Amino acid sequence: MEQMSGSRSWPGGGSTLAYVRDPQALFDRQWDQFGPVSRISFLGKPWALLLGPDACEAVLTNREKAFASGPGWIKAAGPFFGRGLMFLDFAEHLLHRRIMQQAFTRDRLEGYTAGMQSTIASGINGWEASPDFRAYPALKQLTLDVAAEIFMGGAEHTSPDDMDRINRAFIDCLQAATGIVRTDVPFTRWHKGVRGRAVLEEFMRGYLPSRRASEGDDMFSILCHIETDDGERFSDDDVINHMVFLMMAAHDTSTITLSTMMQYLGQHPEWQQRLREEAAHLGDAPTLAELNALTSFDLVMKECLRLVAPVPVLARKTVKATSVLGVHIPADHFAIVAPHFSHYMTEFWTNPSDFDPERFAEPRLEHKSHRHAWDPFGGGVHKCLGMFFAGGEVASVLHHLLRRFEWTVDPDYQVPMNYHSLPFPNDGQPMSLRRL
Ligand code: HEM
Repeated sequence: MEQMSGSRSWPGGGSTLAYVRDPQALFDRQWDQFGPVSRISFLGKPWALLLGPDACEAVLTNREKAFASGPGWIKAAGPFFGRGLMFLDFAEHLLHRRIMQQAFTRDRLEGYTAGMQSTIASGINGWEASPDFRAYPALKQLTLDVAAEIFMGGAEHTSPDDMDRINRAFIDCLQAATGIVRTDVPFTRWHKGVRGRAVLEEFMRGYLPSRRASEGDDMFSILCHIETDDGERFSDDDVINHMVFLMMAAHDTSTITLSTMMQYLGQHPEWQQRLREEAAHLGDAPTLAELNALTSFDLVMKECLRLVAPVPVLARKTVKATSVLGVHIPADHFAIVAPHFSHYMTEFWTNPSDFDPERFAEPRLEHKSHRHAWDPFGGGVHKCLGMFFAGGEVASVLHHLLRRFEWTVDPDYQVPMNYHSLPFPNDGQPMSLRRL
């Protein structure tokens, strides 16, 4: 069996800075030099870097159960979202996922989508048209408001200032992940992350008694009550851990997806108009079924998730020695899977840097060129549980936007993307926004 080749230079900074600056350039270099399975030095440790859909498939289908998610993500993202579903493995993960699936049934998803319409409509109504509108912070505030409504049942007794504090705590937890100092030392990002996690737990714990007692249809109350056919339920700590993780998993990913969609629709007005016309028959309270029937919305969302994968890499750690595509990976070794790289491979995509939503439509169906060519939601047992929720939220926001505004973005604009945590535009995503 082949041994892994690549960089041995650890525990120095290794490829961490190169990743933060430009992950695609780093992946291209590794692929050209070493192929689909190589070694990089990342966050002071050697990692196996697994590139391309075949390597993705091997890890995500995980036939030998050699790859664990929790220890990989704790190393990559820190302990701040620990015990959320993505951090659990094997039998324990299966049990928690079976319980949590009850919160994502078709009926529940219809209910969440219906519940978010008025928050979205009034949030977007409050946007002020401007030739220098910053879409990212506005979208972030909006998705936070939706999360407070749908996940927290309105978070009664929480003032806008307190909600800002909670948002800050999430950001601190997310940004702690790429801190250089990775223990709790005052004034470091890590320390802010530890404090942020404590704030989030205290916030959730404060609501626990009322949500245990409520029969509300918010995610928090639902997590308190759901059980499997065998009567398995979440403990108080489970509910809090899952809530902290879900709020994070749902919030930043939807924000960057919407921000990317606004950018490309601003650069391609013909697509913006096509979407506006496609949804013209819908009012201010579309159902999930109606939103799902908007095929052009779906094509644009798929294309934007390809161009900017909100979760560009997935972290794993081997629990035993294994091999991927004939290359040996030792036990207790960290591994990175990079869907972002697959999304730009010329083997599977025509002119991959171009915005071309029709590539997802008949007869081209480029995403079907390989089962793992398009993996923004991951795959296998950890595949995103919220992907249909996300589809409903993103389409809802876009629909309300298209009814009220039109916008343009400089066709030559390149996003200064920040990869310190999940990707976001450093400049807040500028555009010219006009009320219709
Ligand atoms: C466009 C938006 C989203 C994207 C791109 C996305 C992406 C992902 C990815 C790639 C994973 C797999 C991670 C891995 O295998 O290591 C994942 C897991 C997960 N996501 Fe999402 N996500 C999105 C929105 C959401 C939303 C809205 C929710 C909740 C309402 C959610 C809940 C989850 C959960 C619970 C998991 C863990 C699943 C498990 O480990 O079994 N996600 N997501």
